[in-house]
Amino acid sequence: MIDLKTADEIKNMRPACRAVAVTLRKLREYVKVGMTTMDLDRFAAGCLRDMKAKPAFLGYHGYPATLCVSVNDEIIHGIPNAKRVLRDGDVVSMDMGAYVDGFYGDAAVTVGVGRVSGGAARLMEVTERSLEEGLKRVKPGARLGDVSSAIGEYAEANGMGVIQEFTGHGVGRKLHEDPSIPNYGMPGTGPVLKVGMTLAIEPMLSLGDPDLVVLKDGWTAVTEDGSLSAHFEHSVAVTKDGCEILTKE
Ligand code: MF3
Ligand code: CO
Repeated sequence: MIDLKTADEIKNMRPACRAVAVTLRKLREYVKVGMTTMDLDRFAAGCLRDMKAKPAFLGYHGYPATLCVSVNDEIIHGIPNAKRVLRDGDVVSMDMGAYVDGFYGDAAVTVGVGRVSGGAARLMEVTERSLEEGLKRVKPGARLGDVSSAIGEYAEANGMGVIQEFTGHGVGRKLHEDPSIPNYGMPGTGPVLKVGMTLAIEPMLSLGDPDLVVLKDGWTAVTEDGSLSAHFEHSVAVTKDGCEILTKE
């Protein structure tokens, strides 16, 4: 069941979504060669605290941190680690959810640390653009498959692999609500989008083959072939003429 939000409920989602947007923007500026992924987690936790927002991932199905930090071949759910030092050329995906007064926001960005390879830069750019391509299709009357296929086709046309095992999702009173939003699909299929739907859309792409394995920690998903991966995500609300990106400042 897809939960439609009233204008008031969407207003109440803004603080959590804004806390995510602000924290991710600060993280982008903060991340440097020589830091550990745990440094990023502590910094994010401090940002949320300052804004009186709660981390949404901490404790979610036992997840142990505020932030997911997925480096290079790690696709998502990388667990912050005080021994994992960031090096020149690393591709770092940072994914975070926040909770304020009954509502969740969820977003992710990927940044290069120091000087990245041409392939890494292309991967990050295509992943971010694939999210934009998806967002362009979000409007009342469109079908979810229009959004999914726009993401997947853009990614594949630009030579990237589309991760299939993880999807976007509805977001709002819960971190994960219906519908599930794959990053591939067929135009004209799936649920019809309606004003008041709130969706977290999150393409995950790879520079090589998109097959993945989950590490023994039970969380970290990595590409099977070791190729680089990137992840961008926004929480959005369907509006009468398109969508409002809630996790944008
Ligand atoms: N953005 C990811 C998702 O929506 C984060 C997962 S939450 C975690 O699936 F707590 F499980 F990490
Ligand atoms: Co999400």
